[in-house]
Amino acid sequence: IIYVKILYIFMKFVKENIMNNIFKKLKISLVIVGIVVGVGYLANNGGNNIEKDNTNESINNSNESINNSNEVLLSKLDKEILQYEDMESDYKEIERLENILNNEYFILINRENKLAEDYIPSNLKKCEAKFLDYVQDNNLENAAADAVKKMFAEAAKDGISLVGVSGYRSYGVQKELYDTRMKQSGKERTRAYTAEPGASEHQSGLAIDILCDEYSTLDEGFENTDAFRWLNENCYKYGFILRYLKGKEDITGYNYEPWHFRYVGEDVASYIYKNNLILEDLYR
Ligand code: DAL
Ligand code: ZN
Repeated sequence: IIYVKILYIFMKFVKENIMNNIFKKLKISLVIVGIVVGVGYLANNGGNNIEKDNTNESINNSNESINNSNEVLLSKLDKEILQYEDMESDYKEIERLENILNNEYFILINRENKLAEDYIPSNLKKCEAKFLDYVQDNNLENAAADAVKKMFAEAAKDGISLVGVSGYRSYGVQKELYDTRMKQSGKERTRAYTAEPGASEHQSGLAIDILCDEYSTLDEGFENTDAFRWLNENCYKYGFILRYLKGKEDITGYNYEPWHFRYVGEDVASYIYKNNLILEDLYR
């Protein structure tokens, strides 16, 4: 019995120890497993975070490079738009100059550039604007006649009463005028104000002498009227230029004539007016 009791106690002791050991080992294993799982999890998550960080960084980098290339593209586009606008305005300028050069009214008539004796404009017509009573011929070239009518009507709206004095003059009429004045006033004065036959713009039907109700003498006093001031500022809008300017006598060949207006078309008239030129300047 003693032997059995001793064996029983021994076995119990061994069992308890074994169980304790097993439990201890289990606990240790659990702890180890826990640690391994924990570290693994952490490592895994950390790795993910790093990966995410890396991904974010690379997204940021690509965003930055997209932004950079967008900026490059935009500035390139800006430059191209500017170049295109330059080309467009150059093209418009060329087109405008072409219009001027091809304009049938852009002709120079002066002592060096005379019209033929038999030249008569093909499309003369009576100008339906007010002319002085004594005027025999109030014909003008078609477009010039319409422009005069329009200009006189617009001036009237501003309280200005313009009056036509002389429109188309044939070669024969100009010859008569020139010869008569030569006899009456002598060569110098005649040549200062009167073109010899063939050299007068009036033969083209594109020139008109204009005065006003308040002033009806063809002399320099006309420049002190409101009518002259109006014409001087507005005639280009209707295609006219003041042809014989003060200070340009050496170039035009004639004295200052504040009454003589020449139809050249609106493009040329605006160009001459805005650049302070005379017709001869465009041929030099
Ligand atoms: N009075 C201008 C010059 C002409 O006779 O045509
Ligand atoms: Zn004239």
